[in-house]
Amino acid sequence: MTTTPDHSADGSRPEDLPDDDHEDLPEGLPEGLPEEDDDDAIRRPAGVGESSRASRHWWDRNADEYQDEHGAFLGDDRFVWCPEGLDEADAHLLGEPGTLKGLDVLEIGAGAAQCSRWLTARGARPVALDISFRQLQHSRRIDLSRDAAPVAVVQADAAVLPFADSSFDIACSAYGAVPFSADTAALMREVHRVLRPGGRWAFSVTHPIRWAFPDEPGPEGLTATASYFDRTPYVEQDEQGRASYVEHHRTLGDRVRELAGAGFRLLDLVEPEWPEGHEQEWGGWSPLRGRLIPGTAVFVAVRD
Ligand SMILES: C[S@@+](CC[C@H](N)C(=O)[O-])C[C@H]1O[C@@H](n2cnc3c(N)ncnc32)[C@H](O)[C@@H]1O
Repeated sequence: MTTTPDHSADGSRPEDLPDDDHEDLPEGLPEGLPEEDDDDAIRRPAGVGESSRASRHWWDRNADEYQDEHGAFLGDDRFVWCPEGLDEADAHLLGEPGTLKGLDVLEIGAGAAQCSRWLTARGARPVALDISFRQLQHSRRIDLSRDAAPVAVVQADAAVLPFADSSFDIACSAYGAVPFSADTAALMREVHRVLRPGGRWAFSVTHPIRWAFPDEPGPEGLTATASYFDRTPYVEQDEQGRASYVEHHRTLGDRVRELAGAGFRLLDLVEPEWPEGHEQEWGGWSPLRGRLIPGTAVFVAVRD
Protein backbone atom coordinates (compact mmCIF):
# COMPACT_ATOMS: atom_id res chain seq x y z
CA MET A 1 0.00 0.00 0.00
CA THR A 2 1.80 3.12 -1.16
CA THR A 3 0.28 6.50 -1.85
CA THR A 4 1.36 8.61 -4.77
CA PRO A 5 1.65 12.07 -3.27
CA ASP A 6 0.97 14.81 -5.76
CA HIS A 7 3.05 17.62 -4.41
CA SER A 8 6.66 16.64 -5.04
CA ALA A 9 7.93 19.59 -7.01
CA ASP A 10 9.86 17.59 -9.58
CA GLY A 11 7.28 14.86 -9.88
CA SER A 12 9.74 12.24 -8.67
CA ARG A 13 8.41 9.06 -7.10
CA PRO A 14 10.07 7.19 -4.25
CA GLU A 15 11.11 4.51 -6.75
CA ASP A 16 13.36 7.08 -8.41
CA LEU A 17 15.46 7.62 -5.31
CA PRO A 18 19.13 6.70 -5.25
CA ASP A 19 20.08 4.03 -2.78
CA ASP A 20 22.88 5.67 -0.85
CA ASP A 21 23.31 8.92 1.01
CA HIS A 22 20.20 11.01 1.57
CA GLU A 23 22.08 14.10 0.44
CA ASP A 24 21.34 12.62 -2.97
CA LEU A 25 17.60 12.73 -2.44
CA PRO A 26 15.86 14.74 -5.13
CA GLU A 27 16.25 18.46 -4.60
CA GLY A 28 12.61 19.11 -5.26
CA LEU A 29 10.60 20.10 -2.24
CA PRO A 30 6.98 21.19 -2.47
CA GLU A 31 6.82 24.59 -4.11
CA GLY A 32 5.68 27.66 -2.27
CA LEU A 33 6.73 26.57 1.19
CA PRO A 34 6.90 29.65 3.36
CA GLU A 35 10.32 30.71 4.63
CA GLU A 36 10.52 30.23 8.35
CA ASP A 37 13.82 31.80 9.35
CA ASP A 38 12.44 34.96 10.92
CA ASP A 39 9.18 33.59 12.16
CA ASP A 40 7.79 34.77 15.48
CA ALA A 41 7.13 32.27 18.25
CA ILE A 42 3.92 33.07 20.07
CA ARG A 43 0.97 31.47 21.81
CA ARG A 44 -2.32 31.74 19.95
CA PRO A 45 -5.19 29.51 18.83
CA ALA A 46 -4.56 27.33 15.76
CA GLY A 47 -7.28 25.20 14.21
CA VAL A 48 -7.26 21.81 12.55
CA GLY A 49 -6.57 22.98 8.98
CA GLU A 50 -3.93 25.52 9.90
CA SER A 51 -2.09 23.08 12.17
CA SER A 52 -2.16 20.32 9.60
CA ARG A 53 -0.91 22.59 6.81
CA ALA A 54 1.88 23.99 8.97
CA SER A 55 3.01 20.48 9.97
CA ARG A 56 3.10 19.20 6.42
CA HIS A 57 5.17 22.14 5.23
CA TRP A 58 7.44 22.19 8.27
CA TRP A 59 8.22 18.49 8.15
CA ASP A 60 8.73 18.54 4.39
CA ARG A 61 11.18 21.38 4.84
CA ASN A 62 12.93 19.95 7.87
CA ALA A 63 12.89 16.20 7.22
CA ASP A 64 16.44 16.19 5.82
CA GLU A 65 17.83 17.99 8.83
CA TYR A 66 15.81 15.80 11.23
CA GLN A 67 17.11 12.58 9.69
CA ASP A 68 20.64 14.01 9.53
CA GLU A 69 20.61 14.95 13.17
CA HIS A 70 18.72 12.03 14.68
CA GLY A 71 19.07 9.23 12.13
CA ALA A 72 21.99 7.56 13.92
CA PHE A 73 20.14 7.54 17.25
CA LEU A 74 16.90 6.32 15.64
CA GLY A 75 18.69 3.58 13.71
CA ASP A 76 17.28 2.23 10.48
CA ASP A 77 15.26 -0.51 12.14
CA ARG A 78 15.13 0.39 15.81
CA PHE A 79 11.90 1.13 17.68
CA VAL A 80 12.84 3.86 20.11
CA TRP A 81 10.02 5.65 21.90
CA CYS A 82 11.77 8.81 23.01
CA PRO A 83 14.97 10.80 23.52
CA GLU A 84 15.45 8.90 26.78
CA GLY A 85 16.19 5.91 24.53
CA LEU A 86 13.44 3.56 25.71
CA ASP A 87 13.45 0.67 23.23
CA GLU A 88 10.34 -1.32 22.41
CA ALA A 89 12.65 -4.36 22.41
CA ASP A 90 12.96 -3.87 26.20
CA ALA A 91 9.67 -2.17 27.05
CA HIS A 92 7.18 -4.50 25.31
CA LEU A 93 4.47 -1.84 25.33
CA LEU A 94 2.91 -3.32 22.20
CA GLY A 95 2.79 -6.85 23.56
CA GLU A 96 4.92 -9.61 24.97
CA PRO A 97 7.88 -10.88 22.92
CA GLY A 98 6.78 -13.15 20.11
CA THR A 99 3.22 -11.86 20.00
CA LEU A 100 3.63 -9.39 17.12
CA LYS A 101 3.93 -12.02 14.42
CA GLY A 102 1.21 -11.75 11.80
CA LEU A 103 -0.38 -8.64 13.30
CA ASP A 104 -1.45 -5.61 11.27
CA VAL A 105 0.16 -2.51 12.75
CA LEU A 106 -0.41 1.15 11.90
CA GLU A 107 2.51 3.45 12.71
CA ILE A 108 1.26 7.03 12.90
CA GLY A 109 3.59 9.97 12.24
CA ALA A 110 6.17 7.39 11.20
CA GLY A 111 8.85 9.71 9.79
CA ALA A 112 11.33 7.43 8.00
CA ALA A 113 9.50 4.37 9.38
CA GLN A 114 12.34 3.07 11.53
CA CYS A 115 9.83 1.58 14.00
CA SER A 116 7.96 -0.15 11.19
CA ARG A 117 11.17 -1.83 10.08
CA TRP A 118 11.67 -3.16 13.62
CA LEU A 119 8.09 -4.45 13.57
CA THR A 120 8.63 -6.14 10.20
CA ALA A 121 11.62 -7.99 11.63
CA ARG A 122 9.30 -9.38 14.32
CA GLY A 123 6.87 -10.72 11.73
CA ALA A 124 4.30 -7.92 11.98
CA ARG A 125 2.72 -6.26 8.93
CA PRO A 126 3.20 -2.53 9.50
CA VAL A 127 1.89 0.40 7.49
CA ALA A 128 3.81 3.63 8.07
CA LEU A 129 1.66 6.75 7.80
CA ASP A 130 2.98 10.31 7.77
CA ILE A 131 1.74 13.69 6.61
CA SER A 132 5.14 14.59 5.14
CA PHE A 133 6.14 13.31 1.72
CA ARG A 134 9.76 14.16 2.43
CA GLN A 135 9.81 12.01 5.57
CA LEU A 136 8.40 9.12 3.56
CA GLN A 137 11.08 9.65 0.92
CA HIS A 138 13.57 9.01 3.70
CA SER A 139 11.79 5.76 4.43
CA ARG A 140 12.29 4.76 0.83
CA ARG A 141 15.95 5.84 0.97
CA ILE A 142 16.57 3.52 3.93
CA ASP A 143 14.74 0.64 2.25
CA LEU A 144 16.79 1.00 -0.91
CA SER A 145 20.04 1.08 1.04
CA ARG A 146 19.17 -2.23 2.73
CA ASP A 147 18.00 -4.17 -0.27
CA ALA A 148 15.01 -5.32 1.76
CA ALA A 149 11.29 -5.36 1.10
CA PRO A 150 10.06 -1.75 1.37
CA VAL A 151 7.88 -0.63 4.24
CA ALA A 152 4.34 0.12 3.07
CA VAL A 153 3.89 3.86 3.42
CA VAL A 154 0.87 6.14 3.23
CA GLN A 155 0.89 9.92 3.10
CA ALA A 156 -2.09 11.17 5.06
CA ASP A 157 -3.16 13.28 7.99
CA ALA A 158 -3.69 11.20 11.13
CA ALA A 159 -6.90 13.14 11.72
CA VAL A 160 -8.51 11.40 8.74
CA LEU A 161 -7.12 7.89 8.45
CA PRO A 162 -7.64 6.43 4.97
CA PHE A 163 -8.49 2.94 6.20
CA ALA A 164 -11.63 0.91 6.71
CA ASP A 165 -12.97 0.27 10.19
CA SER A 166 -11.23 -2.51 12.14
CA SER A 167 -8.19 -2.76 9.85
CA PHE A 168 -5.42 -3.04 12.45
CA ASP A 169 -4.49 -5.01 15.56
CA ILE A 170 -2.12 -2.34 16.89
CA ALA A 171 -1.56 1.38 16.37
CA CYS A 172 1.59 3.08 17.60
CA SER A 173 3.29 6.42 17.39
CA ALA A 174 6.68 7.59 18.63
CA TYR A 175 6.23 11.35 18.91
CA GLY A 176 4.17 11.21 15.70
CA ALA A 177 1.13 13.27 14.86
CA VAL A 178 -0.34 13.65 18.36
CA PRO A 179 1.63 16.72 19.54
CA PHE A 180 0.97 18.52 16.26
CA SER A 181 -2.76 17.93 15.85
CA ALA A 182 -5.35 20.45 16.94
CA ASP A 183 -8.15 17.99 17.66
CA THR A 184 -6.58 15.00 19.36
CA ALA A 185 -9.93 13.87 20.76
CA ALA A 186 -10.99 13.30 17.14
CA LEU A 187 -7.64 11.68 16.35
CA MET A 188 -8.20 9.19 19.20
CA ARG A 189 -11.63 8.36 17.76
CA GLU A 190 -10.07 7.78 14.33
CA VAL A 191 -7.49 5.41 15.80
CA HIS A 192 -10.26 3.62 17.71
CA ARG A 193 -12.25 3.26 14.49
CA VAL A 194 -9.44 1.59 12.51
CA LEU A 195 -8.46 -0.76 15.35
CA ARG A 196 -10.05 -4.15 15.84
CA PRO A 197 -11.72 -4.88 19.20
CA GLY A 198 -9.02 -5.58 21.75
CA GLY A 199 -6.48 -3.66 19.65
CA ARG A 200 -3.72 -1.74 21.39
CA TRP A 201 -2.86 1.94 20.93
CA ALA A 202 0.45 3.21 22.30
CA PHE A 203 1.87 6.64 21.65
CA SER A 204 4.62 8.81 23.09
CA VAL A 205 4.50 12.57 23.45
CA THR A 206 6.44 15.26 25.24
CA HIS A 207 5.56 14.86 28.90
CA PRO A 208 2.88 17.49 29.57
CA ILE A 209 4.80 18.93 32.54
CA ARG A 210 7.44 20.17 30.07
CA TRP A 211 4.93 22.72 28.74
CA ALA A 212 5.53 24.79 31.85
CA PHE A 213 9.30 24.99 31.29
CA PRO A 214 11.43 26.68 28.60
CA ASP A 215 12.42 24.13 25.95
CA GLU A 216 16.11 24.42 26.79
CA PRO A 217 18.50 21.62 27.70
CA GLY A 218 20.47 23.70 30.23
CA PRO A 219 19.64 25.14 33.66
CA GLU A 220 17.29 27.74 32.14
CA GLY A 221 15.06 24.78 31.27
CA LEU A 222 14.57 23.98 34.95
CA THR A 223 12.49 26.95 36.04
CA ALA A 224 8.78 26.92 35.35
CA THR A 225 7.83 30.05 33.42
CA ALA A 226 4.43 29.15 31.96
CA SER A 227 1.24 27.58 33.19
CA TYR A 228 0.89 23.84 32.81
CA PHE A 229 -2.84 24.51 32.48
CA ASP A 230 -2.57 26.92 29.54
CA ARG A 231 -3.67 24.92 26.48
CA THR A 232 -3.01 27.79 24.05
CA PRO A 233 -0.95 26.31 21.21
CA TYR A 234 2.68 27.20 20.57
CA VAL A 235 2.82 28.76 17.11
CA GLU A 236 5.62 30.01 14.90
CA GLN A 237 4.25 32.36 12.27
CA ASP A 238 5.50 34.49 9.41
CA GLU A 239 4.97 38.22 8.85
CA GLN A 240 1.53 37.59 7.38
CA GLY A 241 0.52 35.67 10.47
CA ARG A 242 0.59 32.29 8.72
CA ALA A 243 1.60 29.45 11.00
CA SER A 244 4.78 27.62 9.96
CA TYR A 245 4.94 25.35 13.02
CA VAL A 246 2.35 24.44 15.62
CA GLU A 247 2.45 22.35 18.78
CA HIS A 248 -0.58 21.59 20.90
CA HIS A 249 -0.65 20.90 24.61
CA ARG A 250 -2.87 18.67 26.70
CA THR A 251 -2.56 17.99 30.41
CA LEU A 252 -2.23 14.42 31.61
CA GLY A 253 -5.90 14.51 32.61
CA ASP A 254 -6.90 15.76 29.15
CA ARG A 255 -5.14 12.82 27.52
CA VAL A 256 -6.81 10.32 29.82
CA ARG A 257 -10.22 11.86 29.10
CA GLU A 258 -9.59 11.88 25.34
CA LEU A 259 -8.69 8.20 25.41
CA ALA A 260 -11.66 7.24 27.58
CA GLY A 261 -13.99 9.41 25.48
CA ALA A 262 -12.91 7.58 22.33
CA GLY A 263 -13.58 4.18 23.89
CA PHE A 264 -10.09 3.20 25.06
CA ARG A 265 -9.09 1.75 28.41
CA LEU A 266 -5.76 3.02 29.71
CA LEU A 267 -3.38 0.17 30.54
CA ASP A 268 -0.27 2.13 31.44
CA LEU A 269 1.30 5.55 31.49
CA VAL A 270 5.05 5.13 31.15
CA GLU A 271 7.35 7.97 32.18
CA PRO A 272 10.80 6.81 31.03
CA GLU A 273 13.60 7.80 33.37
CA TRP A 274 16.82 9.21 31.99
CA PRO A 275 19.20 6.24 31.97
CA GLU A 276 22.55 6.32 33.73
CA GLY A 277 25.33 6.92 31.21
CA HIS A 278 23.05 8.32 28.51
CA GLU A 279 24.59 11.68 27.65
CA GLN A 280 23.05 12.46 24.26
CA GLU A 281 20.90 15.58 24.10
CA TRP A 282 17.91 15.96 21.79
CA GLY A 283 16.71 19.56 21.64
CA GLY A 284 15.42 20.38 25.10
CA TRP A 285 15.92 16.78 26.32
CA SER A 286 19.18 16.53 28.23
CA PRO A 287 20.71 14.48 31.03
CA LEU A 288 20.49 17.51 33.33
CA ARG A 289 16.73 17.93 32.93
CA GLY A 290 16.01 14.24 32.41
CA ARG A 291 17.33 13.36 35.85
CA LEU A 292 14.96 15.87 37.50
CA ILE A 293 11.72 16.01 35.52
CA PRO A 294 10.08 13.60 33.08
CA GLY A 295 10.54 14.40 29.38
CA THR A 296 8.26 11.82 27.79
CA ALA A 297 4.88 10.25 28.49
CA VAL A 298 3.95 7.00 26.74
CA PHE A 299 0.26 6.16 26.88
CA VAL A 300 -0.70 2.53 26.42
CA ALA A 301 -4.39 1.83 25.87
CA VAL A 302 -6.64 -0.91 24.60
CA ARG A 303 -9.74 -0.62 22.45
CA ASP A 304 -12.65 -2.13 24.34
C1 LIG B 1 9.02 14.10 15.79
S1 LIG B 1 8.66 13.33 14.24
C2 LIG B 1 8.64 11.62 14.72
C3 LIG B 1 8.87 10.72 13.56
C4 LIG B 1 9.17 9.27 13.96
N1 LIG B 1 8.08 8.67 14.67
C5 LIG B 1 10.45 9.22 14.75
O1 LIG B 1 10.42 8.78 15.92
O2 LIG B 1 11.47 9.64 14.21
C6 LIG B 1 6.93 13.72 14.01
C7 LIG B 1 6.35 13.14 12.73
O3 LIG B 1 4.94 13.31 12.76
C8 LIG B 1 4.49 13.68 11.46
N2 LIG B 1 3.20 14.38 11.57
C9 LIG B 1 2.97 15.61 12.10
N3 LIG B 1 1.67 15.90 12.05
C10 LIG B 1 1.05 14.85 11.46
C11 LIG B 1 -0.29 14.56 11.11
N4 LIG B 1 -1.28 15.43 11.38
N5 LIG B 1 -0.58 13.38 10.53
C12 LIG B 1 0.41 12.49 10.25
N6 LIG B 1 1.71 12.71 10.55
C13 LIG B 1 2.04 13.87 11.15
C14 LIG B 1 5.62 14.54 10.93
O4 LIG B 1 5.59 14.65 9.52
C15 LIG B 1 6.85 13.81 11.47
O5 LIG B 1 7.33 12.86 10.56
